[in-house]
Amino acid sequence: MKRVELVASEIAWEIRDGQTVGAYGYNGQVPGPVIEAKAGEPLEVRFTNRLSEPTTIHWHGLRVPAAMDGTKAVQPVVEPGQTFVYRFTPPDAGTFWYHPHTNESEQLEKGLYGALIVRGDDEPIVDRERVLVFDDLKLDKRGEIAAFGGLKQRHDGREGDVRLINGRAEPELVMAAGQVERWRIINASSARYVRLSLGGAPFRIIGTDGGLIEKPVTVTEVLLPAADRVDILVGPFQEGEGLDVESLKYDRMTMGRRGNERFGTLRVGPREASRAVVPSRLRSIPALSPSDVAPNRVVKMSVGPSLRRGLDFLVNGERHHHDRPVQVGELQVWDVVNKSLMDHPFHLHGFFFQVVSVNGEPPGFRSWEDVVNLPPRSTTRIAWLPDDRPGSWMYHCHILEHHEAGMMGHFDVVR
Ligand code: C2O
Ligand code: CU
Repeated sequence: MKRVELVASEIAWEIRDGQTVGAYGYNGQVPGPVIEAKAGEPLEVRFTNRLSEPTTIHWHGLRVPAAMDGTKAVQPVVEPGQTFVYRFTPPDAGTFWYHPHTNESEQLEKGLYGALIVRGDDEPIVDRERVLVFDDLKLDKRGEIAAFGGLKQRHDGREGDVRLINGRAEPELVMAAGQVERWRIINASSARYVRLSLGGAPFRIIGTDGGLIEKPVTVTEVLLPAADRVDILVGPFQEGEGLDVESLKYDRMTMGRRGNERFGTLRVGPREASRAVVPSRLRSIPALSPSDVAPNRVVKMSVGPSLRRGLDFLVNGERHHHDRPVQVGELQVWDVVNKSLMDHPFHLHGFFFQVVSVNGEPPGFRSWEDVVNLPPRSTTRIAWLPDDRPGSWMYHCHILEHHEAGMMGHFDVVR
């Protein structure tokens, strides 16, 4: 059994040398500590809340028992001064993360997030591994976290102009020439999409939300909507190369627009020997469902005007939708329909799904996901199998302001 202590408290977050902002942190830091776990090994996290507001922790992407999911639907909030013990055994290797599921649009932005890495027996051998958590931060004129709210933030989700990797603004990463590194990347932003590029250099995708994919896929960019993860192999590079770790322009149909923006830089130092061994086959992922199977549920996400609130974010026409139960062992094929004119990252709690098709087209490769981007006016068909973990679960848009505004659904998994 692996035991971890986590304490949430107010901290001074040093985003660059000499510049700090009043923030929240786990164990005094942003991101919180990387929690290292092994697939199949029990994990116990003793969590103490030293904030002045209630909170809970959600283990994003992990197939935990319903009671450990960290939502208010399954546990009482952890009040200031209280301790709650989370216990579960992570079944799958992969790159996961943890964050509050109570007032999360403020608590996450203020710095409450961290990586949870689950290792399997059969990982590719690389020269070095890094966990890189991307985030952005909106500061006011005093250099403190800007006030929350407003129509633009409600519509777009909150984006900020300070771009961070592992809690530091535009850091420099240094790697040795000739080596291959595995980067486990998490987008912890409230709303921002990271269209990741390494100065145009090719890199290899080896994993997504639910662990390794079947074989490495070489690309020059990958889109990470809010809450998404990807594992990539980076290198080998030549000594002296310098690359921007950047997010390319991506229009998710918001009121605010952005061009290419840098999150950090990569500098390549002197050559070192490499012992990296990357198999051409990483694992096999059998298809859950044929692509022509009829869906057994439709989840419609929409945005509409509201007299009282300005804008409503809805699922099947309802804020905080109560969806039908799901039977353990019964294959779920859902058409997730985005009726709106903007993108939304759809997140399913507690279970991985496969993307069967997007507007009728199969994805480029098969993978296990818990977040998928829904382009404007699109239909994404997903398939997932509810294993025997009955209880209360949910799905939602992971733009935190949209989730808060009601773009989410509750459902029970029943035996
Ligand atoms: Cu990271 Cu309810 O999610
Ligand atoms: Cu959304």
